[in-house]
Amino acid sequence: MRHLLKPLDFTVEEINELLNLARDIGQNRSRYAHVCDGKKLATLFYEPSTRTRLSFEAAMLNLGGSVLGFQSASASSASKGESVADTVRVVSCYADIIAMRHPKEGAPLVASLYSGVPIINAGDGGHQHPTQTLTDLMTIRSLSGRLEHMTVGLCGDLKFGRTVHSLIHALIRYPGIRFVLISPMELRVPSYIREDVLCGNGIPFEESSSLEEALPKLDILYMTRVQKERFFNEADYIRLKDSYILTAEKMKLAKKDMYVLHPLPRVNEISVEVDEDPRAAYFRQVQYGVYVRMALIMTLLGVKKPC
Ligand code: NCD
Repeated sequence: MRHLLKPLDFTVEEINELLNLARDIGQNRSRYAHVCDGKKLATLFYEPSTRTRLSFEAAMLNLGGSVLGFQSASASSASKGESVADTVRVVSCYADIIAMRHPKEGAPLVASLYSGVPIINAGDGGHQHPTQTLTDLMTIRSLSGRLEHMTVGLCGDLKFGRTVHSLIHALIRYPGIRFVLISPMELRVPSYIREDVLCGNGIPFEESSSLEEALPKLDILYMTRVQKERFFNEADYIRLKDSYILTAEKMKLAKKDMYVLHPLPRVNEISVEVDEDPRAAYFRQVQYGVYVRMALIMTLLGVKKPC
């Protein structure tokens, strides 16, 4: 039985296969409409979410399966003191696969030790978010045509942003990747990412506080929201929340074929005027997210591609 807890749980070849399957799903949706008939997905969300939960649910419904679950810790027995271990033991009896989001780092890993069915980490605290990363890889590969030889700018909350941490882990396995890490001092990537993941693997990167200076160099700009819910004090959040705002004016500094990604939700960090720019890829990214999750559910359930 396999789980997806972090992007490195899949090899580069497996990710490639999964993205190929997701592409085929996008091109031939009706062929996949019944491949998971009779299967159930449980979404256990201990933290708020719109697109991740709904996109998992849409993915399973598109495959012919059904869904059950809860959308907040207060609506589950966690509010009575039940442990994650017990909850997944119980839910394993109801569902064939579980997607879990939890505010505590490592909760999906604990779940995987007790679950009788595959666990998908749908975001654990400030740690990892592997299905967003698969979505990001699919978006980059589909729009830029490659995952190699790219200069990727990551901008905003690089400290608490789990999508950033997962994406860095995943991208360093492709040749010719460079990063420009754009953030205020207080929101730089955690030192384990800088020292162990980037320096430790000899990956070229620079840290900058200026989006304007970085923009002309980039093939991909990955904007992120300042993660309000992970701040210890509100004054710091208020001071840092509008550190970067991408505008149509700033987009003039970027390459003609640079794409802008964002895991969403957006707050102020991308002005709505940028949505009209053909390089704005964040709403297309949402659609890719459904195809990727369909491919992932099929892969973890061992469901074969229909012929
Ligand atoms: C992200 C998350 O939950 O980490 N959202 C998402 O899943 N698309 C990003 C965020 O909340 O800022």
